[in-house]
Amino acid sequence: MSKNKQVIIKTLPEGKLTEDNYELIESELPDIGDNEVMVKTISFAITAGTRAGLQGSASYAGAPKTGIVMNSTGVGEIAESNNEAFPVGAKVLTMTGWQAYSVQKPESLTLIREDVDPSLYLGPLGINGLTAYFGLLEIGQPKAGETVMISAAAGSVGHMVGQIAKIKGCKVVGVCGSDEKCNTLIDELGFDAAVNYKDPNYRQSLKDATPDGVDVYFDNTGGMILGSALFRLNSGGRIACCGVVSQYDTSTPEPGPKGIPGLLVNKSIRMQGFLVFDFADRYDQATDELIEWINEGQLKILTDELDGLDQAPKGFVDLLAGGNIGTRVVNVS
Ligand SMILES: NC(=O)c1ccc[n+]([C@@H]2O[C@H](COP(=O)([O-])OP(=O)(O)OC[C@H]3O[C@@H](n4cnc5c(N)ncnc54)[C@H](OP(=O)(O)O)[C@@H]3O)[C@@H](O)[C@H]2O)c1
Repeated sequence: MSKNKQVIIKTLPEGKLTEDNYELIESELPDIGDNEVMVKTISFAITAGTRAGLQGSASYAGAPKTGIVMNSTGVGEIAESNNEAFPVGAKVLTMTGWQAYSVQKPESLTLIREDVDPSLYLGPLGINGLTAYFGLLEIGQPKAGETVMISAAAGSVGHMVGQIAKIKGCKVVGVCGSDEKCNTLIDELGFDAAVNYKDPNYRQSLKDATPDGVDVYFDNTGGMILGSALFRLNSGGRIACCGVVSQYDTSTPEPGPKGIPGLLVNKSIRMQGFLVFDFADRYDQATDELIEWINEGQLKILTDELDGLDQAPKGFVDLLAGGNIGTRVVNVS
C-alpha cells in the first residue's frame, strides 16, 4: 500500500463543467500522524451541491481551488489506525473525496453501524437523506392531506423527500426532466403525480397535477421551476429552499424568478433556506427513523452506480445534465 489514486481539480469550469476540468493522478501515500487513520475508499457519492462549490456559491465550501482532490462524501474501511476508537477493518463515513485512500482525523469520521449496509450511508443515512428529512419535516412542515411539490424529484434528495412526504400522509407531485423519471416516481415510489419540466406544456401539466394548489414546495432547483411553484402555492404555503441546481453549471447564474416578494406577501408564504448542518445535533434521531422506514419498506432507495475512480468526472458531468436517477455512487474498491 504505497500509492494512491486521486482525481484532482485541474482547472475551474468556465461555463459548463467538462471532464477536462479533472485529472486522474497517482501519488505517494503519506504516513498517518498521531490519532489519525488511513481510510481505503469503498465508494463515494457524486452530488449536485459540489458543483456549487466549484462555482464559489456554497458558503460552507470556501473559495474554489485547483490542484486539490475533488471533494465528496464516501464510505471506506480503516486500513491503518493510530486511534483505538477506529480500529483497522471498521467501516466509516467520511469526506473521502475522489481518491482511493485518505488520511482522516477522528472528528471527521462517523462509524457505520454494523447491522446496516454501508452503501446506505451515501444515500438515506448520509448528507442527502438527512437533507431530505430535515428540509421537509422541519422547514416544509407538511401536514397530512396537504400537497407537497418537489423539484429535481428523481434525484438523490428529491426521491427521498417525496417518499417521506407520502409517509406523512401528503399528496406528492414531483417535477423532473424526463418521462422515464416521471414514470419511476409514480410506478416505483408511489408519487401521486410527476411532471416533466422540459415538456412544452409543463405549466398546464403542473396545474392539472395540483388541482388543490401546493402547500409545501421543496426547492432543489430554483429558476423557472421555482417560478412555476410560486403561482401554485396556497395561502400559508411554505417553500423549503434546499438548493439551486438549475444555476450551478454556469458562470452566469440568472437572478431569481418574478413574484418575490409580491406573491409571498399576498399569500403569507414562508420561504426559508437551510443547510443540513443546522440539524447536526439531531442526526442520530433522524438516522433511527430513516432505518425504520427502510426496514419497513416505506422508503425505497434508488442508487445509480458507476465502477471505477476514472468514471467520476464523466459521471458528474452527466449528473448535471440529468443522467442520474436517485443517488449516483462511484465504486472504487
Ligand atoms: N441545503 C442543504 O444542506 C443541501 C444538502 C445536500 C444537497 N442540497 C441540494 O439538493 C439539491 C439536489 O442535490 P442532489 O445531490 O440530490 O442532486 P440530484 O438531484 O441527484 O442531481 C441533480 C439533478 O438536478 C436536475 N437538474 C439539472 N439541471 C437542472 C435544471 N437546469 N433545471 C432543473 N433540474 C435540473 C437533474 O435532473 P432532471 O432530469 O430532473 O433535470 C439532475 O439529475 C441540490 O440543489 C443540492 O445543492 C442541499
